[in-house]
Amino acid sequence: MNWIVDNPKMNVVVMTGAGISAESGIQTFRGTNGLWENHRIEEVASPIAFRRDPVMVWNFYLQRRKQALTCRPNTGHLAVAELEKWIRSAGGSFLLVTQNVDGLHSRAGSRNVIEMHGSLMMTRCTACGEVFQDESTDMELPPRHDCPDKGLLRPHIVWFGESLFPGDMERIESAIEMCDMFIVIGTSGIVYPAAGLVNFANRLGKRTVCVNKDAPANIDLFDRFIEGEAGSELPKRLFPEK
Ligand SMILES: NC(=O)c1ccc[n+]([C@@H]2O[C@H](COP(=O)([O-])OP(=O)(O)OC[C@H]3O[C@@H](n4cnc5c(N)ncnc54)[C@H](O)[C@@H]3O)[C@@H](O)[C@H]2O)c1
Repeated sequence: MNWIVDNPKMNVVVMTGAGISAESGIQTFRGTNGLWENHRIEEVASPIAFRRDPVMVWNFYLQRRKQALTCRPNTGHLAVAELEKWIRSAGGSFLLVTQNVDGLHSRAGSRNVIEMHGSLMMTRCTACGEVFQDESTDMELPPRHDCPDKGLLRPHIVWFGESLFPGDMERIESAIEMCDMFIVIGTSGIVYPAAGLVNFANRLGKRTVCVNKDAPANIDLFDRFIEGEAGSELPKRLFPEK
């Protein structure tokens, strides 16, 4: 068997997108003509949308939060978590960068994770900036913070047109600089800056591998492309079984 990672004494960065959660029952959005759960994405996932109608945006994200809480990590998430354990116990380094906001990687046991687009389970105050864990699905809308300014609360999500959280890009790039292999799973290669990380790894001469149901937009940048669903391909191909 030609494993993706055959030696645990390696430095590996994995980046995942919506495709890895598809088999848990969470819709991707490129697959549905730019609609995410029947919404045009820019109508719910942008600062303009939130300014215009915070209640509508909150309703959308509370639905996503509810749904994510009822879904379970699948065999793809579990294989990524097992790979991290295998590598870290052998002295290698491992970073998981996910564009997903559903929290399923952490629930599968992944530890060193950067949620580069934020999390459905976190809320942020637009006045004082406090970020906190929040799994409530029923609240008065739009919610207000109990800080002195009674700030409007928003989902802690990186919306279209916003920058990543401070420090995340630097941490991701330095992990890629140090890595031996960059593995990309279940992402269309269209949403930047995530898609640009493959260019970055490629320019540094890193080995790049992609596991995806369909050929991604940036397929030419990968040394190896495994076509298939993450939940069935990863347990068979990611690393040797113990
Ligand atoms: N689960 C989530 O948290 C979730 C879901 C939808 C959208 N989003 C957000 O929307 C943006 C979407 O960009 P994206 O590139 O991650 O997703 P995308 O929807 O643009 O692309 C998903 C990719 O996954 C592939 N795919 C579908 N099912 C798969 C499977 N079972 N196994 C492997 N690959 C599969 C598709 O071929 C496609 O290339 C992200 O920024 C993300 O934050 C998040």
